[in-house]
Formats: sequence, C-alpha cells, structure tokens
Amino acid sequence: MLIAKTLGQFIIEKQADFPYAKGELSRLLRDIGIAAKIVNREVNKAGLMDILGEAGSTNIQGESQKKLDIFANEQFISALQSGGECCIVVSEENDEYIYIDSEISKNAKYIVAIDPLDGSSNIDVNVSVGTIFSIYRRKSTNGKATLDDVLQKGVDQVAAGYVIYGSSTMLVYTTGKGVNGFTLDPSIGEFCLSHPNMTIPEDGFIYSINEGYYTHFPDGVKKYIKYCQVEDTTTRRPYTSRYTGSMVADLHRNMIKGGIFIYPITASAPNGKLRLVYECNPMAFIIEQAGGLASNGYERILELDVTELHQRSAIFIGSANMVKRAEEMMKSFS
Ligand code: AHG
Ligand code: MN
Ligand code: MN
Ligand code: MN
Repeated sequence: MLIAKTLGQFIIEKQADFPYAKGELSRLLRDIGIAAKIVNREVNKAGLMDILGEAGSTNIQGESQKKLDIFANEQFISALQSGGECCIVVSEENDEYIYIDSEISKNAKYIVAIDPLDGSSNIDVNVSVGTIFSIYRRKSTNGKATLDDVLQKGVDQVAAGYVIYGSSTMLVYTTGKGVNGFTLDPSIGEFCLSHPNMTIPEDGFIYSINEGYYTHFPDGVKKYIKYCQVEDTTTRRPYTSRYTGSMVADLHRNMIKGGIFIYPITASAPNGKLRLVYECNPMAFIIEQAGGLASNGYERILELDVTELHQRSAIFIGSANMVKRAEEMMKSFS
C-alpha cells in the first residue's frame, strides 16, 4: 500500500510556493505538528492517566482550566520555544504574551497565537477536542518583538490551522494557497495527506449554535434559526442542528458537509464568547481559503481591528450562502 505523502514531505514540496522563505515557516509547522502528536497521545489515553478533570486554576477568561488545557499549553509552548522559529507566543491559557528570549530564537520572525485545547468541556466525556493556531510574521524589523507585532488583523496571517482529536486525529492548515488535511497514522507516527485541497460546500443543511441562549440572541439570529427550522415545509426541508461544544469539531464537520457555525453575542457574552486572535481569525482564514465566509454578523472577521490579546467577537462562519443569508437577517433585524 502506497503511504500517502507525510506532512513533512508536503511542507517541503510546497516550499517552492515561498521562494523567499528559507524554510523557517516549514520548520515552524513541523514544530507544531510534533506538539500535536504529543497532545494526541495524552488525549487518546486520557481516561487512563491523571489528566482528566480540573487543574484547580482559572485562566484570564474566567474559565476553570482542565489538566489537559495546561498539558497541551505546555507542550505547544515548549515546542515553539525549542524550535527557534517563533519570537512570541500568545495563548488562551496565558494572561500576557510570552516573549521567547533565547539565543536560538533571537532572529525568529514568526508570532504564533494558539488555543492549545479547544472544547475543553468535552475532555471528561470523550467528545472531540482540538487545537487552533495562527501564525503572523513580525512587523518590526529589529530589537524585541512587541505587542504591536501581535495585534495584527486576520488578513495579515501567513498561516493558520487546527488539529482535531476525534475518531481519528487530523491536522488541517492553510498558508494562503488552499487548505490541506492530514490524518495521523499512529503506526508510523506521521500526519499523512488525506484531504488535499479541502473546500467547503457553498450551501449546507446543518446549523450549529447553542440554542440554550436563545432568549438573549439578537433578533436577526432568532430569525435565522426560524429560517433554518423552516416555517413552510412545502418549499424545503428543515435543516439539521448539530452542536458539540467544540468549535474545531463543529467547523470541521461543516467544512466537510457544508453548514454554518454561529456564536453570537449572548447575555453572558455581550461581545461574543470566542476569541478573535486564536479562535475566530485562524478559523476564518481557513474557511475563507476553503471557499466559505466568516463574519461577525456585519463585517468580515479577517478585517476586524485587533486591539487586545483576548478580545472576543461574535462569529458566523461556514458555507458562503448560509453566512450571507444569516448576515442579511442580522442587518435587517438586529
Ligand atoms: P475553549 O475550550 O478553548 O475555551 O473553547 C470553547 C469554545 C468553543 O470551542 C465552543 O464552540 C464554545 O466554547 C462552546 O461554548 P458554549 O459552551 O457556551 O456553547
Ligand atoms: Mn477555554
Ligand atoms: Mn477554544
Ligand atoms: Mn481552549
């Protein structure tokens, strides 16, 4: 059986797309892939290790951190620190950005923002979780990189990706030239190309939203949900509601089958819950590269001004025609 191209082979092959790059981005993606394999190992045997449950600490988001949040965070940060290609790491689990001040990283030109473990509420119940990463080139050309190098718009990302630790473990990423998916083959410990040139269907029949917050949704969201549930079933069938509590898992399913994921503003999240820098922007870059759309209900996610590390945003993301329809309702009714 011919082994599919590994992530490493693919990255080197695609190196030609970046004539000016001297391999740094390739090495950075390799470092992220290594950390993902280590996290995958722990996720796969979480029930057998003392890695389930609460860590007993709270992050800046006000969330109680799970042991796996902390473990995954440590793995990705250490892989980025030792890889030498990254000068700053931003993480959901760290209040401030981490400046990597080491001999090997002194010429590093990349900034990495990461949600080390997405969907933490699913860990103890064995439902898919993920990792999300976003990569920028620093803007400053000398001295220490600063916050100004981090707070860049989503359109300025050079790469973004996610890992889904599901029935199989996949790494999906873009460098702005399409989206490619790699499935981890545990027998050789390599991510192998399994989903080349991923595209999201223009239309879909799946909507993902936590309807438990319905009462406080903006009217445009309420109207869109009713549109999905179809008042007049003679014209079309109702959509299917699928919501897992893990953005990565919901977006990956909707990427494959078509669909829309919505996390609007709610009473408890007046600016939205999801974080712009390490959830909304990377997922928006990926989905747009796959032919979909990502909006905050009124404007393109990737164009939003980034003013804070842990800034939140409402997000409507997925199949282009579905996002357009939802935006129309937001603009008409909210
Ligand atoms: P994280 O686990 O990284 O904090 O992210 C959880 C996010 C996202 O993955 C998911 O879609 C959403 O929170 C679920 O929020 P609700 O439980 O409020 O629906
Ligand atoms: Mn969290
Ligand atoms: Mn998350
Ligand atoms: Mn997280």
